[in-house]
Amino acid sequence: MARALVVAFAGAAVNQVAAQAPAPARVWVTPAAGDADRGRALYAAQCTSCHAVDAHKTGPAHRGVMGRRVGSAPGYRYSDELAASRLRWTAQTLNAWLATLR
Ligand code: HEC
Repeated sequence: MARALVVAFAGAAVNQVAAQAPAPARVWVTPAAGDADRGRALYAAQCTSCHAVDAHKTGPAHRGVMGRRVGSAPGYRYSDELAASRLRWTAQTLNAWLATLR
């Protein structure tokens, strides 16, 4: 949650400064082919402080997230932005979202 808020505030500040500039085009990158062992290790190291596969923690449960509508896991209270999104989680949208978690 804290990271999401930091990103939101940083984005708001940048938007004010760059109010006159045209919005940069979003870059949709298709990630390289998967490596499940590396993914499992990265997930354990970087995601499980807030997420679990089958339970909501600070963040929503992840089982079935691929292909699911953004912000639609039953029983999890999302931010207004995610709840209102009409995107689905694909390799491209996940990659763009995860690139903001730094
Ligand atoms: C500091 C806590 C935190 C960490 C660490 C974190 N997340 Fe999240 N994540 C959240 C929160 C909170 C939300 C819900 C955001 C919202 O409602 O706007 C979320 C939402 C998501 C979603 C959207 C799920 C949906 O149902 O639409 C995905 C996908 C996701 N995170 C993936 C990850 C991955 C992968 C990692 C590790 C690389 C990660 N997150 C690390 C807190 C975290």
